[in-house]
This record gives sequence, structure tokens and C-alpha cells, in this order.
Amino acid sequence: MSGLDPESAKQEAAAAALELVRPGMRLGLGTGSTAAHFIALLGKKVAQGLDVLGVPTSERSRAQAEALGIPLATLDDAPGLDMTIDGADEFDPQLRLIKGGGGALLREKIVAAASQRMIVVADSSKAVARLGKFPLPVEVSTFGLEATRRLIGREAAAVGCRGSIDLRKTSEGRAFVSDSGNYIVDCAFGLIPAPEDLATRLNAIPGVVEHGLFLGFATAVIMGGPKGIEIYGSLS
Ligand code: A5P
Repeated sequence: MSGLDPESAKQEAAAAALELVRPGMRLGLGTGSTAAHFIALLGKKVAQGLDVLGVPTSERSRAQAEALGIPLATLDDAPGLDMTIDGADEFDPQLRLIKGGGGALLREKIVAAASQRMIVVADSSKAVARLGKFPLPVEVSTFGLEATRRLIGREAAAVGCRGSIDLRKTSEGRAFVSDSGNYIVDCAFGLIPAPEDLATRLNAIPGVVEHGLFLGFATAVIMGGPKGIEIYGSLS
């Protein structure tokens, strides 16, 4: 049964992704509420005897997977992964993504890049015609924050992206620090006319550690929504 509420849709997408898992697979474990549904379902399968190895994309996902008894490794132990299952903040018809709402974009991108396949699990609110409604997260070095922020603004403006670039804060009002010890700035650019051009320019800024544009990573999106499960891209 397809639920209309986002949590049910996320859970259905996670359940559909679980069907792609085969014994012996090395899996990248994503971060966020949708990935957490997948990890919870995977944990149940592992408890029933499924043999897989997981590489988590965040300390949060590591803690969840560890508590469920999912065997874990690092990318140093398992540098090549069969498949990563992760969520997204937005995806467009070309399966380009914005990620990083949960603050884990750097490890998520490293893990996705080490995977043969990246399967995105999402509810239908994440589907957009064009990327950019969700503020683009950019992970930056704590050193030189203001100079980096200025450069991001300049380079983004050169490709038609303007808007506030805000240091992410915790609920206690402190600067959010990623698992890798960096800050995140959230760039409210609105629609991004040319994601590839913006990505190239952001990559060239020394203080930018990584940005949340995932271009050419996702091989498929499994979307849960009012019409049930919809698949974009190729699952094989
Ligand atoms: C984590 O940094 C993000 O990239 C998440 O994958 C993204 O924010 C999706 O999260 P939800 O599944 O909670 O919507």
C-alpha cells in the first residue's frame, strides 16, 4: 500500500531499494531520514542472516547500523563498493542531485564515488524540474570562512546564482561542524541555471572542501509517492 505521508513514502522507497541487495554486497549507507529507513530494514535482514558489509556516510548512520549489528567497514578496508543507497534533498529529470541537508555531503560524495551504483531513495517532494529551491549546502574549511564565503558569492554570481550564503548553525546557535571537522554554508541561490558550471567554479575555490551538487552520481532514483513507487534511471 502506498502512503500519502512523506514518512510512508520514504519507507516504501527504502523497502524497494532493499530488494536490490544481494548476499555478499558491499554497501554505502547514506545519511538522513530516508537512508535511516533503509538501514533499519537492512538491519532486520542482517538479523535474519543476510551477509553484507556496510560503509556508513556519517557517524549518525554508523551508530544506527552498529546498533543493528550490520557489519561495517571503512573505505580503507573496502575501497570499492557495489552500491550506495542514499537520500537527496532534490533530484531533477537528469538525476542531478542537491545533497547535504543533513550535513554529511562530503562523506556521502566520497562513498558514492567509490560505488558502482548510487541508488537514491526519496519521497516525491524531492523531485524538481530544476535544481535550486533547496539551498545548496557547501562544506568549507573553518580556516578563512569569510574569504571563502566571498569567493563563493563571486563565482556563483558569474553563473547567474545570487542569494544569501549562510553559515549553518546548530539548534543551540553554534556553528555546525561536519563529521570531517568543516563548516557548512547554505546558499539560497534559487533556481540554478547551469549546475555543471556552478560545480566547476565551486570546485576551484581553495576553501571549498566539497559542494552538495551531485552531478553524474545517481544511477537511479526510487521515489515513493501518492502513485506508489516510481523508478527513474536504471536499477541494474
Ligand atoms: C544528508 O547530508 C543529506 O544529503 C540527505 O541525504 C538528504 O538531506 C536527504 O535527507 P532526508 O532523507 O532526511 O530527506
